[in-house]
Amino acid sequence: MGKSKTIYVCQNCGATSPKWLGKCQACHEWNTLQEEVSVKTNRQNTLLPEDKTSKAVPINEIKVEETQRIDTQNNELNRTLGGGLVKGSVVLIGGEPGIGKSTLALQMALDLTKHKILYVSAEESLQHVKIRADRLGRLNPQCLILSETSLEKIFLQIKQHNPEIIIIDSIQTIYTSTADAIPGSITQIRECTQHLVKYAKTYETPIILIGHINKAGHLAGPKVLEHVVDTVLQFEGDQHHIYRILRANKNRFGAVGEPGIFEMANNGLREVSNPSELLLSDKQNETAGVAAAATIEGIRPLMTEVQALVSNSSFSSPQRNATGFDRNRLNMLLAVIEKRLGYKISDKDVFLNTTGGLKIEDPAADLAVISALISSGVDISIDRNICFAGEIGLSGEIRAVSRINQRINEAQKLGFNTIYVSQQNKNISKSIKNINVIQIQKIEEFVKKMLNKK
Ligand code: TYD
Ligand code: MG
Repeated sequence: MGKSKTIYVCQNCGATSPKWLGKCQACHEWNTLQEEVSVKTNRQNTLLPEDKTSKAVPINEIKVEETQRIDTQNNELNRTLGGGLVKGSVVLIGGEPGIGKSTLALQMALDLTKHKILYVSAEESLQHVKIRADRLGRLNPQCLILSETSLEKIFLQIKQHNPEIIIIDSIQTIYTSTADAIPGSITQIRECTQHLVKYAKTYETPIILIGHINKAGHLAGPKVLEHVVDTVLQFEGDQHHIYRILRANKNRFGAVGEPGIFEMANNGLREVSNPSELLLSDKQNETAGVAAAATIEGIRPLMTEVQALVSNSSFSSPQRNATGFDRNRLNMLLAVIEKRLGYKISDKDVFLNTTGGLKIEDPAADLAVISALISSGVDISIDRNICFAGEIGLSGEIRAVSRINQRINEAQKLGFNTIYVSQQNKNISKSIKNINVIQIQKIEEFVKKMLNKK
């Protein structure tokens, strides 16, 4: 062991400073510096069971094996990974506590009956994992469970069993003795991840790391982790709803964009291959304040429903509440309604929900949101065969959105007979049939059309 010295490490970006500072000089976050003791250790003492020697080769002589991807037996997970788990890759799955990260990982481990898997649970005992597996309703003798927090002991087991896939649940709870800091600190996370990445690359074994998300919604130790791993998947959704969405934020081996959609059931996560159908409520049921939005999640079309409730407020400062939709965006749309349409909404309570608790980030949902708000405000329902795809600008103009033909096709497939889109969307395919595409320019014009129908 070498000399130890105290350093201050930013828990957000991993930057170090010799003295404590209120604000990190690298990422400008406040109050993120924490004291850690750094010990210079003998780096020759590698954790890897044995070091393979590497040598430089000309690029044209590198052989790429064909079967590089492992089918995870889970279509939605394969889809998010870009076609399966790449050998030697390190995948980080991040998400809030209770969202279902452990369930997803264990389910994958239990389904992969043709591969030897080591599932390291650093948070739960063997019994807990077994209870969850019983709940999932399947057992796989190829799946080894280890309840351990010391990375050195984990490597001993890896050396003994030589698994084809390794899952670490979670990276924040394991520690290595080569770093003298508490588990979960940036120094530990960085050190452990580096050892694991090195193992994955040397032995071409894929490793799945599960990571926690901090209060601000970022992965704890985010930059440090995201830079060293190959793929970052984010598991999102509302804990109180059943839908979960798995997005790739970074993927060295595939496109980012195709999200996987799951439903949390009593016996684990179920794949949802036709999400649009589930997210739309019964079309017979016509109520004011409901509008359908033709959105895109990554590159996947998704019809979602927004529900608004506008009512007279009994408070001096009315409530603004949004679930699954950005509140600032809602405030902006309310201001547009007030200013451009002259409809007084500032003294009303406004509630906005999206179905299934999925978060809509696509600005193309604006038009549906504004329609739902007006519909609820004037208490006139919108025909359930109509849907919307358009972004709203500050002057009330309806802006063009991306992938318009994909949206129209999805709407048509789900039985909508009319879609409102922006006048500025020029490239609408002529071959689209069975759906009436109405192009509009200004929100005023559209509201007149909507209200005159009744
Ligand atoms: P878990 O995988 O433990 O979440 P994480 O690892 O992200 O913290 O999942 C936790 C939630 O999922 C828990 O509230 C119970 C629920 N759950 C089900 O609804 N069905 C199931 O089959 C399982 C295993 C969990
Ligand atoms: Mg867990």
